[in-house]
Amino acid sequence: MCGIVAYTGPRDVAPVLLDALRRLEYRGYDSAGLAVLQTEESAPSLTIVRAVGKLDNLAQAISASDLPGQTGIGHTRWATHGRPSEANAHPHRSGPLAIVHNGIIENHLELKQALRAEGVEFQSDTDTEIVAHLLHKHLSPHGPREDALREALRRTLREIRGAYALAVVCEQAPDFVLLAKNSSPLVLGIGRGETLATSDIPALLSYTRDVVFLEDGELAELRPSGVHIETLDGTLVQRRSRRIDWSPVQAEKGGYKHFMLKEIFEQPRAIEDTLRGRLDLESGSLVLNELGLDAETARGISRICFIACGTSYHASLLGRHYVEKYARIPAQTELGSEVRYRDPVFTKGDLVIAVSQSGETLDTLAALEEAKRHGARTIALTNVLESAIARAADSALYTHAGPEIGVASTKAFTTQLVAMLMLSLELGRLRGTLPAPELLALLHALLEAPGSLRTTLEAHEAVLSVARKWHQSQNFLFLGRGLEFPIALEGALKLKEISYAHAEGYAAGEMKHGPIALIDEKMPVIVLIPDDRTYEKTFSNLEEVRARDGRVIAVATEGDERVKGVADDVLYIPKVHEAIAPLITTIPLQLLAYYVADLRGTDVDQPRNLAKTVTVE
Ligand code: M6R
Repeated sequence: MCGIVAYTGPRDVAPVLLDALRRLEYRGYDSAGLAVLQTEESAPSLTIVRAVGKLDNLAQAISASDLPGQTGIGHTRWATHGRPSEANAHPHRSGPLAIVHNGIIENHLELKQALRAEGVEFQSDTDTEIVAHLLHKHLSPHGPREDALREALRRTLREIRGAYALAVVCEQAPDFVLLAKNSSPLVLGIGRGETLATSDIPALLSYTRDVVFLEDGELAELRPSGVHIETLDGTLVQRRSRRIDWSPVQAEKGGYKHFMLKEIFEQPRAIEDTLRGRLDLESGSLVLNELGLDAETARGISRICFIACGTSYHASLLGRHYVEKYARIPAQTELGSEVRYRDPVFTKGDLVIAVSQSGETLDTLAALEEAKRHGARTIALTNVLESAIARAADSALYTHAGPEIGVASTKAFTTQLVAMLMLSLELGRLRGTLPAPELLALLHALLEAPGSLRTTLEAHEAVLSVARKWHQSQNFLFLGRGLEFPIALEGALKLKEISYAHAEGYAAGEMKHGPIALIDEKMPVIVLIPDDRTYEKTFSNLEEVRARDGRVIAVATEGDERVKGVADDVLYIPKVHEAIAPLITTIPLQLLAYYVADLRGTDVDQPRNLAKTVTVE
């Protein structure tokens, strides 16, 4: 996830771009840059300034250069292709034009090969640079520049596949910025004698409160006099602007009260980004080239060991299920902080997968290094490009969830599950343990997951009313079986870390071995009971709770009247493939934790005693 900005109007553009980028910095901050169209000379020229690291570095670089000009584009980067470096920072230039991009170009490898064959030289490792060269290639030297640029962009967009919010400036088209959108956000601001475009509303509120949201498949043009929108095939789009009345703090969180809530609602989009370019339905396979796995390597794996902490550990417990079921490889899950002090046995046949949102958790990193010393093959499954764990492992599988600001991990968890499922399916395919029709059904189930998540999120009001009813309870018990047991653990962790209520996650079948003694009419018991192979067994556990006057909040599949008949409250989820259900049952639990914490008045995004990245032992 990156942030982009574009401006044209009467102001000095460099400070405008920098100010907007500061407000977009939460979207990525490993490098930044801007391009200014200087029109003081007789022939307009583009100046590009880029810097690695936080925006202050860019601000310093700008103060050292003379950047007069009223039209420009800017970018703050969160690396997805190519490590954070000045060469990989945006804008990227080709001939007279420069572009900034937020998103991922899926078919960048084949396009790059074709451009190279035509003699194009690349300056960066990014997928974005391809778009700049394609635009340049298609830019006709004839006719009005704006028309030529628009036509070149149309041709380019027909060739690229993936997600993008793009902004283009060209030396031959002063006071003009061209934009395009597909899947990545882009909002246009309409001021007096000035227009701008940004990835998010907060970045433009200092200039105007009148905004227009660009839709997928649309192009837009910024001129000081106003904006013009049309579809890719040239149909004019007339859309009324909306007035935004948010306070600056609200605006930063995209209108949500907390980053955590924003990140919960971002999950369908985050999962789309995890999946992007990785499912090949035609060949019935997964595109995970970054791992360098082939049939021989996959068959040579004797054991898979996941190592992680906290929420990533809970995701890894599910990873074990996926690996065992689909790849038929013995698997185990270890806590980073435990395994390293146990004199563990790692061998050359082991594949060790270190799972970490931040990629910096010290216990996970140290355990990974220990496994490497014993000759194990290692993979980092992380959200942060070039993080310590990504660098330490033999290869990395990135989740592409975008920066997670709330201390309580949400979208990192569900995207980890998706990445683990994809990896397990590919291993199963390579080892011949997963029949092709079953694999294809699972690929389709993965594709449908973001839609099911959206449907589940739409029912957030139902979770809020359950939270209102139970938020003062001191103790909560979460029960789940099979694939739902890790989700019960995660639901309890989420609730305790942000609401400070005591919460325990338990395997439903273990309740009778102890925790059943806790049950009384005051304790809410959250039972995860989707329509899966363990349904009947879990139903018996639910009845055991009811028989002891326990209060049941069930998470069940839409239409389940049987559960409704015995539970105090039911939170429904749509019917999905069994492997996807844990992603979906997670949503009501995240929302419940959030609403309970908010009703209790805690500091949701920065709960007491916690840190987002734990780099101590
Ligand atoms: O960055 P990591 O995934 O390695 O972080 C691991 C834990 O510190 C993290 O999941 C922690 O448990 C979160 N606060 C959970 O919400």
